Amino acid sequence: MKQISFEAVSLLIEQGEYDQSITELLKIKKALLENAKEANVSQVKQKFVKQATQVDQLIEKVRIKKDTENEIETEEMDKPIQTGKVVHFSDVIGLSDVKNALRNRIIYPFEYPEIFEAFDKKAGGGVLLYGPPGTGKTLVVRALANEIGADFYPMKCSDLLSKYFGESEANIKKLFADANKSKRAVIFFDELDALASKRGDETGPMNRVVAELLTSIDGFSGSNPNVLIVGATNMPWLLDDALVRPPRFSEMIYVSIPDFDARIDLFKLYLKNVQTEELDYDLLAALTEGHSAADITEIVEMSKNYPIQRAIKEAKIGSLKMDDLEVAISNSRKSVTDEMLDTYETFNER
Ligand SMILES: Nc1ncnc2c1ncn2[C@@H]1O[C@H](COP(=O)(O)OP(=O)(O)OP(=O)(O)O)[C@@H](O)[C@H]1O
Ligand SMILES: [Mg+2]
Repeated sequence: MKQISFEAVSLLIEQGEYDQSITELLKIKKALLENAKEANVSQVKQKFVKQATQVDQLIEKVRIKKDTENEIETEEMDKPIQTGKVVHFSDVIGLSDVKNALRNRIIYPFEYPEIFEAFDKKAGGGVLLYGPPGTGKTLVVRALANEIGADFYPMKCSDLLSKYFGESEANIKKLFADANKSKRAVIFFDELDALASKRGDETGPMNRVVAELLTSIDGFSGSNPNVLIVGATNMPWLLDDALVRPPRFSEMIYVSIPDFDARIDLFKLYLKNVQTEELDYDLLAALTEGHSAADITEIVEMSKNYPIQRAIKEAKIGSLKMDDLEVAISNSRKSVTDEMLDTYETFNER
């Protein structure tokens, strides 16, 4: 007769030990049934059978709980940042290098397959976007995924390490396996430096995650023209050399702050649906030299406070004025410093 105490099993059932592994519970159930078979006294036999049934019920509960957890996790994994409004390429100002590179890799190969075939040109692969914050790296990738109707697998690398810690390697595997099944997919590793910057501990979990990422990318690059892998970072110099070697993120594109024309377009885009007096866009662009695209959206948002206050006070909706924008600009600050830009320039010359 197996050593299994009534008391221990009763306690288990009573507490509903949800964290028990199913395998463990199955073993207990098997032992209980064996004991029941071997018991001579019918009362004892019944007691064992009853407990076995209760353990069975517990197994079912644990199964349901595990399934629910997996479901939640899968949902989060697949679509963590696919919220907010739909973005199109036309909502992304400037960034023509980036748009072209993305078009060449995943849009044109579908539109002109015979041309790509004629030159044996591979599609898909990996592109790395780097540059200061608020310049549209994340935005352009979201726009791309939408533009081509691709399944979008965005992954914040910092989440990969914190939220799903311990399961990171499995999650990377799953991400790539899912993307592989898609007709067209964009896998996006945002904040890629989060993976690289903490390297050094050669046997640590971080290294296993990076290793899994490298293996997964290698298994893909060139082999599946329907999948584009895009990485983004503010700190490209922190990235592991192995990550930016062909065929991984072999194409690196610098995404910088907007130039004069782009700044005009940013103001126009963000004021598109706002009633304004006639605005001097050249002056607005001139006043915002050195500001990032995100800074300019912030300036526009701040400027709206003035006509709103006036409208409330005067009980009449008027226009947003050039003055409002100028005040907002004078109250704003550049989020990207000249030193930061120099650092990128130096990196570009490497
Ligand atoms: N090129 C752009 N065209 C239009 N809007 C932009 C552009 N770049 C940034 N913006 C505005 O700024 C916001 C932030 O941009 P985004 O998140 O894409 O920057 P990022 O380059 O990914 O920054 P980070 O490096 O900090 O991740 C966008 O949601 C958008 O409102
Ligand atoms: Mg970003």
